[in-house]
This record gives sequence, structure tokens and C-alpha cells, in this order.
Amino acid sequence: MDVEYIKSHLRTHPDFPKKGIVFLDIFPLLRNPLAFETLITHCVHHLTSHTIPTSPSRKIDVIVGLDARGFLLGPLIALRLGAAFVPVRKQGKLPGQCVSASYEKEYGVDIFEMQADAIQAGQTVVVVDDLIATGGSAKAAGELIAKQGGRTLEYLFIIELTFLKGAANLDAPVYSIIQVN
Ligand code: ADE
Repeated sequence: MDVEYIKSHLRTHPDFPKKGIVFLDIFPLLRNPLAFETLITHCVHHLTSHTIPTSPSRKIDVIVGLDARGFLLGPLIALRLGAAFVPVRKQGKLPGQCVSASYEKEYGVDIFEMQADAIQAGQTVVVVDDLIATGGSAKAAGELIAKQGGRTLEYLFIIELTFLKGAANLDAPVYSIIQVN
């Protein structure tokens, strides 16, 4: 099954970046072209052939990718769907007028930005990242989309750390390929 195949290419790194954290590494998956292809096809299949509860028409206008690993997945999914790709970046990296939203990190607060003309009012959006932990960064991205009048249909991740209950903080359903309990 493709989920088991995708899962078999993840690597865990105990005590990275600090003691007590088991880091889930997606880079071995991206290193294998067949595994990477299987991952992207799984995401595209999910977004096109399964009815997303918030959008029975399934039309997706924009894929939003989160800094930084969301940039590795989002554009490939967007191209396959014929959707726009829009990056959310850490503060100070994007030129022109931006909208911003803050979120809590383990140590202190960080700020996410999106270019102010990136999403048109009424557009449908799916947010993509590699992993959801507490959901703080995805929530900030959802706020940036809402500020521009976009409608977030779903948040899509390769991995969900379900014990951190990040999905409960978001304004749309979460889809994850692999759940870590
Ligand atoms: N981001 C937050 N927690 C993580 C983890 N355990 N592995 C990879 N990325 C993460």
C-alpha cells in the first residue's frame, strides 16, 4: 500500500534538535524518486478524488506552502492540480506589501507573512506542510488566508503528531498521510 511505502522512507532521529525530541525526517523520502512520486501522487489523488467535506466541488484555486519544508511539496502539488502556489514565509523575506500573523513557538513568538495580493477574495485554498505538531504555524497561515478573503478547505500534512492535538486549533479539517500517536 502506498502509505506503508511512503512511511518506510521516513527516518527518525532521537534527541534532535534537542534531547527528548524524536525528529521525523522526510528527506530520505525525497531522495528516492519513486517514493517522492508516490507521495505527490497520493496527495493529488486525495485532493481530486476524495470529496473534501468543505468543498464538494473539489475545485482548489491555491496551494499555500509553509516555510520551509512546505516549499518542497506545495509547488509540485499545485502544478499537478493547475492551481496557484503561494508561499508563507518568516517575516522580512518577502518583497512588497505583506499581511502578517504571529504564532507561538517553543521559545517565544515568530511571525509569518504572505504577499498582500497573493489570494483573491473567495478563492479556495489548501495549506501544505510536511508535519503538524501543535498547529501554531498552520493556524497563522490560516489567519493570513482569511485576512485576504480566501477560504481554507483543508490542511494537508505528510505526518501528524496526533498527541499534540494541533488539528483542534485550525479552522478547517486536517488530512495527514501518517499519524504518530
Ligand atoms: N517539527 C515539530 N516537531 C517535529 C518533529 N518531531 N519532527 C520533525 N519536525 C518537527
